[in-house]
Amino acid sequence: MSQERSDTLVLFGATGDLAHKKIFPALYAMVAKGTLNEPVIGVAFDPWDLAKLQARARDGIVNALGSIDDKIFARLASLLRYVSGDYRAPATFEKLKTAVGSAERPLHYLAVPPAMFEVVVQGLEQSGAAQGARLMVEKPFGHDLQSARWLNRVLHLVFDEKSIFRIDHYLGKEAIQNLLYFRFANSFLEPIWNRNYVESVQITMAEDFGVEGRGRFYDEVGCIRDVIENHLLNILLLLAMEPPVGRSADDLIDEKVQVLRAIRTLTRDDVVRGQFDGYLKEPGVAPNSPVETFAAVRFFVDTWRWQDVPFFIRAGKSLPVHATEVIVRLKRPPLDVFDPIKPGDCNHVRFRIDPQVAISIGARRKAPGDDMVGEQVELTALDDSKGDMPPYERLIGDAMNGNGQLFTRQDASELAWRIVGPVLGDTTPPLVYAPKTWGPAEAMAGFGPQNGWINPAK
Ligand code: BG6
Repeated sequence: MSQERSDTLVLFGATGDLAHKKIFPALYAMVAKGTLNEPVIGVAFDPWDLAKLQARARDGIVNALGSIDDKIFARLASLLRYVSGDYRAPATFEKLKTAVGSAERPLHYLAVPPAMFEVVVQGLEQSGAAQGARLMVEKPFGHDLQSARWLNRVLHLVFDEKSIFRIDHYLGKEAIQNLLYFRFANSFLEPIWNRNYVESVQITMAEDFGVEGRGRFYDEVGCIRDVIENHLLNILLLLAMEPPVGRSADDLIDEKVQVLRAIRTLTRDDVVRGQFDGYLKEPGVAPNSPVETFAAVRFFVDTWRWQDVPFFIRAGKSLPVHATEVIVRLKRPPLDVFDPIKPGDCNHVRFRIDPQVAISIGARRKAPGDDMVGEQVELTALDDSKGDMPPYERLIGDAMNGNGQLFTRQDASELAWRIVGPVLGDTTPPLVYAPKTWGPAEAMAGFGPQNGWINPAK
């Protein structure tokens, strides 16, 4: 398929939460920058009219951005259309086909629960609305390897791989883009970025809130499926991959896939699972649910570069802070020439992903005074985040332009499920941890990188 731009955006799930919170604010930002001028057709079951959808979009934008420019919103509102109907009814897709009109390369965005993917894709095909079209799907792409394969088969019956855009919004984040850039636009890192110098890698995604009314969804998923198998594993890939040989989407994704192929399949010994005290009382959560709201996982990448270097990922709800951070810790110097260096006081590179974007180098310097005694310091490049493009804006724009670089390819999606497969669906009750703590303390005491975890600061 050529890279020509999509000439219509069709948004399934237009009255839903994701559209309200993320997609309409992204579309508004695109209109403001002049990067969206195509019709946007909302589709959903609710028997609304266009005015109601416009009002809902406006509300989402005001909530997300705090204010709205009426002129810009009027432009977005003029692009909006609305088709309401049951996704199982052919009549819905006939109406959609009429709304799509003469558009030749529509982008169909499935912001709907995965259970609806198959139905919508079939409806698109039967009505002819899939003709020449692209498809964007929201995670989760299946809930294990088998279902991911099934889903891919269903999508491929109608769309070829180059027309499918599996969205993981982490890949659209500025800080994640920077991680890739920082690694491959600097030469000072490369000599040390390997098993000879790196002691361990740790990635922490901490959220200081619970499941926020999403109990029903979360209880079918759990922490490993929700954020580790996708968002955080993707960060690991960017840290571990070799430089891509070119700039095409496949060049980049091929290197990530090489890492995925080299990651050892997990065993239960590689995981500590926890559940915050109070989770079982959340609406939508099953009594005695064995679902984890916290997980710490150890990965190994069996390559020449990374053999024996542990990559730890830790994520959870109801932790003490809301922050995502990566620490690449280097080995300590071979000898103490001056004062003894404590084991944890090694050099490191810290990538702060959220809420601010920052890259720091942790180093030692001499503390002021008579003695040759040192102290730890960090040299930090802090981005004030002004002007950052929010992930949904970047990713919708890319999908409309047919640029698949920041999306998950079929092989990558299936390999990721292969790696985590053996630790999914564990029905052993997870260890309970008190809200606002770093997971189940006892189990975590013996589990983590050599010289300990570094908890992200507030
Ligand atoms: C989503 C998960 O994919 O990512 C949520 O379903 C999680 O549980 C969210 O809170 C985190 O995204 P962000 O961009 O706020 O870090």
